[in-house]
Amino acid sequence: MSEPLPPGAAPEGGIAAVVVLAAGQGTRMRSATPKVLHALGGRSMLGHVLAAAAPLVARHTLVVVGAGREAVEEHLAQVAPGARPVLQEEQRGSGHAAAVALAAVPDLEGPVLLVNGDAPLLRPETVTALVEAHRAAGAVLTVLTAEVDDPTGLGRIVRDGDGAVRAIVEQRDATPEQRAIREINAGVYVGEAAALRRALGSLREDNDQGEQYLTDVLGLLVAEGAPVAGVPAEDPVDVLGCNDRRELAARRRTLNDRVLDDLMRSGVTVVDPATTWVDVTVTVAADALLEPGVHLRGTTSVATGAVVGPDTTLVDTTVEEGASVVRSHVLGAVVGPRATVGPFSYLRPGTRLAAASKVGAFVETKNVQVGEDSKVPHLSYVGDATIGRGSNVGAATVFVNYDGVAKHHTRVGDHVRIGSDTMLVAPVTVGDGAYTAAGSVITNDVPPGAMGVARARQRNVAGWVRRRRPGTAAAQAAEAAVDAGAEAAAHTRAEASE
Ligand code: UD1
Ligand code: CA
Repeated sequence: MSEPLPPGAAPEGGIAAVVVLAAGQGTRMRSATPKVLHALGGRSMLGHVLAAAAPLVARHTLVVVGAGREAVEEHLAQVAPGARPVLQEEQRGSGHAAAVALAAVPDLEGPVLLVNGDAPLLRPETVTALVEAHRAAGAVLTVLTAEVDDPTGLGRIVRDGDGAVRAIVEQRDATPEQRAIREINAGVYVGEAAALRRALGSLREDNDQGEQYLTDVLGLLVAEGAPVAGVPAEDPVDVLGCNDRRELAARRRTLNDRVLDDLMRSGVTVVDPATTWVDVTVTVAADALLEPGVHLRGTTSVATGAVVGPDTTLVDTTVEEGASVVRSHVLGAVVGPRATVGPFSYLRPGTRLAAASKVGAFVETKNVQVGEDSKVPHLSYVGDATIGRGSNVGAATVFVNYDGVAKHHTRVGDHVRIGSDTMLVAPVTVGDGAYTAAGSVITNDVPPGAMGVARARQRNVAGWVRRRRPGTAAAQAAEAAVDAGAEAAAHTRAEASE
């Protein structure tokens, strides 16, 4: 058994704390939603940053909140209940935010990851590599950098003749020569807690924005003679920030391209990557096929041999082996092996389709189990129901589940034939092997093997059109048909008498 760690220390191989800076206003988003809560690829920006830091095994995860704090805290409680929000009352800059976070954990010792909350493309590999480089260099502060074509708006990494990092200079405070530098600050840092505290404590606000810049910590530590390092990200795309909606769209595209590249490399056919959108939380097995216009979201999984699309959205849905879903919108459903859905259907939460079952065109389902080999082929609403195996639900059937106050359940047994345009008024049971007559309103149970008929008997009023709609085309057609009938009858009589 190892000794228990002192409360502030970093676990072996891990780090003492992850600090996400997420208190900024995000003015450039022009949004009522705090910047870090804007979503891409199935997670908030904040969620992506936390996911990238998750493998670090940190003692504490702190998220500095301020602008829109209630919303950010509520979101955190959902997606990262282990993370602790720390309030920065006034947004006095990224350095001030880091100081507020460290003040919340006064015992903390060892390496701390500081990361901007608006870096949604950051990957765990990149963060882990930075922490390792920091350890290997024996630095007190290591900053992640990247060479970019257009460094506009970003902090520049100033190195000396030997290539040692000397300072980070913000664009608005940079000289023309510094502005020409293309190595930028990614906004991801690893620093030793004690050194950080010291340097953060002496930050000034004598810059263009009148803020305490976290970036100035680096120059302060250099002035102390402390070892600092700058490590370029392996893929510069990883560090791209997100400050407005155009950048959000661009990051979303990049993230999606990454997800699709991974899927294609693993054996998934993606017919049109430009119109296929897959959340980072989705799994798709090899030899599944995604047609154009497919959106896969949340906890969706698609098994091998399944075909999805074209033009289909699946949210939190399981599609099993060899199933197909065409031009449909599916939420919280399970589509069993070899089952087929669509075109043009809407499957809502709780829909469970067993193997080889079918939900055809223009069908809405909700909270329903459809048994093996059973079919709902056309134009129906099926809500709150259990359907056995080998049954068929005729076109335009409605499972009338709602009495205006409460929802009720319908049971349909095995090998049942529900006639077209049946209203099954729940709660009601149709027994195994039973039929219902087309156009029936079924309000009582139908026993096994019976035919449930619940409709008015047909009555024909002879000659009605000739009497009530004289002179119309219908009346003429009726007369012609009657005359032809009389002639044919006469002919038959004549033949018979020959
Ligand atoms: C910052 C860096 C810049 C770097 C860029 C990378 C500073 C001073 N500059 O610039 O060198 O190239 O990120 O994207 O850090 N925040 C707070 N409280 C505050 C102010 C900011 O929590 O009072 C948070 C923001 O929510 C954000 C992060 O700190 O997540 C950075 O702030 P932001 O205003 O986005 O800085 P940039 O101008 O992008
Ligand atoms: Ca930023």
